[in-house]
Amino acid sequence: MYYPEELVEEIRSKNDIVDVVSGYVRLQKKGGNYWACCPFHNENTPSFSVSGAKQMYHCFGCGVSGNVFTFVMKYENFSFPEAVRYLAERVGVNLPEAEYTEEQKQRANRRARLMEVNREAAKFFYYQLRSPQGAVGNKYLAKRELSEETMQRFGLGYAGKNGTDLVRYLRQKGFEDDIIKGAGLASYSEKYGLVSQFWNRVMYPIQDINGRVIGFGGRVMGEGEPKYLNSPETEVFDKRRNLYGLNFARTARSGNIILCEGYMDVISMHQAGFTQAVASLGTAFTQEQANLLRKYTDTVLLAYDSDGAGVKAALRGIGILREAGLTGKVIDMRPHKDPDEFMKALGKEAFQERINRAENSFYFEIRILEGQFDMSDPESKTRFHREIAKKLCQFSEAVERENYLQAIAEKYFIGVENLRKLVISYAGETGGVKPIERPKSGIHQKNNAEENGKRAQRLLLTWITDEPEVYPKIKKYINPGDFTEELYRKAAEKLFRDLDNGIFRPADIISTFEEEEEQRAVGELFNTGLSQNGMEKDREQAFHDIVLAVKKNSYEYFSQRLGSDVNALNQVIEGKKALEELARTHISLSEG
Ligand code: CTP
Ligand code: MN
Repeated sequence: MYYPEELVEEIRSKNDIVDVVSGYVRLQKKGGNYWACCPFHNENTPSFSVSGAKQMYHCFGCGVSGNVFTFVMKYENFSFPEAVRYLAERVGVNLPEAEYTEEQKQRANRRARLMEVNREAAKFFYYQLRSPQGAVGNKYLAKRELSEETMQRFGLGYAGKNGTDLVRYLRQKGFEDDIIKGAGLASYSEKYGLVSQFWNRVMYPIQDINGRVIGFGGRVMGEGEPKYLNSPETEVFDKRRNLYGLNFARTARSGNIILCEGYMDVISMHQAGFTQAVASLGTAFTQEQANLLRKYTDTVLLAYDSDGAGVKAALRGIGILREAGLTGKVIDMRPHKDPDEFMKALGKEAFQERINRAENSFYFEIRILEGQFDMSDPESKTRFHREIAKKLCQFSEAVERENYLQAIAEKYFIGVENLRKLVISYAGETGGVKPIERPKSGIHQKNNAEENGKRAQRLLLTWITDEPEVYPKIKKYINPGDFTEELYRKAAEKLFRDLDNGIFRPADIISTFEEEEEQRAVGELFNTGLSQNGMEKDREQAFHDIVLAVKKNSYEYFSQRLGSDVNALNQVIEGKKALEELARTHISLSEG
């Protein structure tokens, strides 16, 4: 970790999680907690809860959990140190200059060098385009109707026919071969040594969100294979997490982002004034990219090619956007192939018109589905209606489902009642209209003994973080060693040690785990669903059951390991005693 633990704790405690989260989503108070629709998955009924007492959040729908650090990490795509700096600034805590390890320093250094070499290469290509030998490139880009201003804005360039010019130039600028190769700008050949990756192509530098060059796409001028040659993935070029044009689009403030397929589409859209256009990087659109977009907009318009491949990509994109909780719409490019051709043929007013008329993604899906059926054949038509009904089952919220049901019924001349019956029949068959996932409460839910043991451990830790005052009552029966899952045990050790010292900061425990997966698991650990209602008597019975289940699980676990685990004997002896005592003890939750 980069910053001292106490400082991290100070920053965390000064950033009240309810304050921070309400800067991003609208929270509503219900009971002791605050609720909202989860910003990390798509839903219509709030299952995202924020607890001021625990300083943690948890989503009962998708399972995300964490503290104020993990929240901004997820929401803002920050690394842990970035989250610390961001939250420190928010509350005016001064940070010391970070202490980096030698390895970290070297890595940061190397990343900086890789960006520098890319920048230098972009400059080289840029000047080549403007030199006599770059005339072919210039001619090609002019034919594509790009203005000098656009070419400058996107830093377009040209890679000449000589495969060693670039390498010589970069070496002369002081870059080592290792860096040139590491940036994917050149590779080794037996015969020529280090030779440029790009050769006789117009060059499109790819910039990250801050405008730093992280890679290139190179296009052949005219026909030829491959049409585009891209930089390989490198330490600075992550194709899943960057988008072409986003460095400009992020400040477009147009209320939407337009997602295109190609570099050329983005460039010609920007030239026409649609500076909110972006494209993925020669790879399919990813969930990470969708999450990134969510920082800038809630509506993404798909401007994919109008051919079969484009439609398929759009259907896939819709799913990804939905998963990210973004509204997706589809722009109809017909009769033209892509935004670039559309713009040239019909111009920007016509394109704006298409934006205004962009199709709701669900309608789009149904319309594409329709194409696979023959409406003049009753059997085929029936199958189409069944498919619609199945798709309607995807909507978990009744109001939304009903609205779509009515709209689609009207659109496709299906009787509303009939369609509703179909939906109900499919809902029953496929395990129900997608239920909102609620935590299953009670420890008898699953038969599997191991699962039950784990679940009891989670429930107990949740209970203690909900009502730390019960801790003194169970101390005598339960020790951290009873948590047979390693991660749970570590969390319990810290929690119990803190409580013994009169400290209660469950949110901090999360930060002591370094992997995101672990943080998530610990968050879940403290937020396993407890049934909140019920009489005090029932609550006491439930609590007793949980404590007993944890102890019993531990007893059985260590009994099996008596031969091999030095710690086992103690736990077994102590466990037997505690179990006997628990059997005749009533733990009162109300008495102090
Ligand atoms: N692509 C690629 N490698 C290829 C072909 C395509 O990486 N051999 C990627 C590029 O990012 C390209 C995108 O897929 O921008 C879309 O491909 P296409 O529609 O063929 O390219 P356009 O950008 O439309 O290029 P142009 O208009 O110059 O044909
Ligand atoms: Mn094109």
